[in-house]
Amino acid sequence: MSTVYLNGKFIPIEDALIPVTDRGFLFGDGVYEVIPAYGGRLFRLSHHLQRLQNSLDGIRLDNPHSDGEWKAILDTLLEHNRGLAAANNDQSVYLQVTRGSAAKRDHSFPEHVIPTVFASSNPITDPDPAITEQGVAAITLDDIRWQYCDIKAVTLLPNVLLRQQAVDRNAMEAILIRNGLVIEGSASNVFVVKDGNILTPAKGPQMLPGITRDLVLELAEQHRLPCQETDISEDRLREADEIWITSSTREIIPVTVLDAKTVGQGSPGPVWKTMIGFYRTYKQSVRNGTAE
Ligand SMILES: Cc1ncc(COP(=O)(O)O)c(C=O)c1O
Repeated sequence: MSTVYLNGKFIPIEDALIPVTDRGFLFGDGVYEVIPAYGGRLFRLSHHLQRLQNSLDGIRLDNPHSDGEWKAILDTLLEHNRGLAAANNDQSVYLQVTRGSAAKRDHSFPEHVIPTVFASSNPITDPDPAITEQGVAAITLDDIRWQYCDIKAVTLLPNVLLRQQAVDRNAMEAILIRNGLVIEGSASNVFVVKDGNILTPAKGPQMLPGITRDLVLELAEQHRLPCQETDISEDRLREADEIWITSSTREIIPVTVLDAKTVGQGSPGPVWKTMIGFYRTYKQSVRNGTAE
């Protein structure tokens, strides 16, 4: 049975209950983070905590904890659930902060309400080699989401509906298009490779600033691979030699079929192979404690 953190206590998941008046439940009024931990070490924690702070600022909710307190909570949680993980102790942490529970249901912010703070952790495994060897299918869909997609809000119904359309069409991800431009996936960021250049859309309120996206850009720069943050039109996406989707739990996944048509050569491309090598080396250095 896994242990979770809820409002100051580490308790069995079965005992973790919140009131039905919680604003996360009633309004989706909360934010979250997903943070992998390799060998018990939280991957890019400072980046995740900075994004959490930005999300909290975006919904005008005070951060209930300092960075040091967050680290202590999450490290303790990982330790509690260590026995459930594989020998390598790879886990993924989910944390959520909502505006708490008020007696009366009212859209406007309640006064003197204590936020609800929840965190859980679960074992994770490396991405399935069958997926990384063959790549995955994706479809394109209109981006129907709101205008604050840089806030990692728990209000994920549009993303859920978009992802389900992908699943219904035997695809792993929906790549979202707004005004003719590629934005991101339903739960991932998007890269394309054209003539050896790695391209990804620039950050802005229309997309979530992915921690994996930033790391991929950092690794490209460090290893002098040509890369650029730029607009990617739908046509450019369809003409790409390679398409990748990135996220903390899925890492970097090659898309080899887009809208039922082959991407590039139809198999994971050479630039992806180079980049995933750098990514795996970096991940190993986090496990060894030589990088964050
Ligand atoms: C909409 C969206 N974009 C991008 C990402 C990738 O972000 P990260 O690399 O921080 O996991 C996610 C992650 O879940 C997401 O939900």
